[in-house]
Amino acid sequence: MSMQYFGSCPAGEVHELTISNGRGLEAKVLSLGATLRSLLVTDESGRRRDVVLGYDSAEEYFFGEAYFGATVGRFCNRIAAPGFELDGKCFVLPPNEGKNQLHGGPFGFSRQIWTPLPAGEDRAVFRLISPDGDMGFPGNLMVQVTYRLTEESLVIEYEAETDAPTVLNLTNHSYFNLSGHESGSVGGHRLKLTADFFTPTDEQMIPTGEIRPVSGSVLDLRTEKTVGELISAPELKTTQGLDHNFVLSGSDAVPAAWLKAPDGTLSAEVYTDRPAIQVYTAGFLGNVPGKNGAVYADHQGICLETQGFPDAVHHPNFPSPVLRAGEVWRSRTEYRFRGASRVRRRKAVMIRI
Ligand code: BGC
Repeated sequence: MSMQYFGSCPAGEVHELTISNGRGLEAKVLSLGATLRSLLVTDESGRRRDVVLGYDSAEEYFFGEAYFGATVGRFCNRIAAPGFELDGKCFVLPPNEGKNQLHGGPFGFSRQIWTPLPAGEDRAVFRLISPDGDMGFPGNLMVQVTYRLTEESLVIEYEAETDAPTVLNLTNHSYFNLSGHESGSVGGHRLKLTADFFTPTDEQMIPTGEIRPVSGSVLDLRTEKTVGELISAPELKTTQGLDHNFVLSGSDAVPAAWLKAPDGTLSAEVYTDRPAIQVYTAGFLGNVPGKNGAVYADHQGICLETQGFPDAVHHPNFPSPVLRAGEVWRSRTEYRFRGASRVRRRKAVMIRI
């Protein structure tokens, strides 16, 4: 792991850590927001590409609205106004999307400086102490995020502890483009999800509380569809494609999501122990200046945000987001990258046996 100064922003000085698996997988991660800024993946033809969207400066990360690559908390996705009640106490949350709170509030974890901890070549570990009352949430919270590279995966592990009852929902907000971050729309990518249900929302994107089967709808992604089909689906016009929370029906040994590049040279499988995944096809990106002079248009990336259910604080039928003193909150998500020819070769070996 190597570390260098990246820049500064109103949150403070930002450093960038570079980690590598020594076999072509390399990640750059920022102390601001414990943010994944780049992920270099080598396909079977030897072509190296950066498969996540990002910015070139600390200010853009601090002021940007896209949450590129960020660790989002304390509570990713939405909590309806004015806040929530826990053990008979009311907590009012500062809003940042109309009257509701999105992605942990105006200065959530993605806009705070995390402390890098000593770690090996293949990993970066960050810690954040979030004080009682931070963005309206109770309890002093210690949270740690580890980015680790294995032979073909990026693994993100989370750990958190509190000294008073609180709620927690962490995710990573990377926008993937398996053709490379600079290569236009992800419309040609193919997507498949292990999800039998989704949580419908109202016009403010707040869950209604219903857990509805995907069968018979455009959201049935149990057989793969192109992202382009979803972007142009009339039923998904208001969200300009996907911006939906899917309930995962597999286990952490089955991919929650599969994404394939249009040319078939690279695929990503997402494994997680979280109960849900928000899939966002970036319908509202709108020509954001990105890394190395790239300009990101709508639909130039896809977020596969593994998480608990949005607004779970208001829906007793959703998995509980409560964390209590003495408990350790742990979670793991793995993004496994494969060159298509490697997948084919494995199948061929299996057939020969
Ligand atoms: C949300 C979108 C939002 C985007 C950027 C996603 O997680 O679901 O509605 O526009 O993040 O904030």
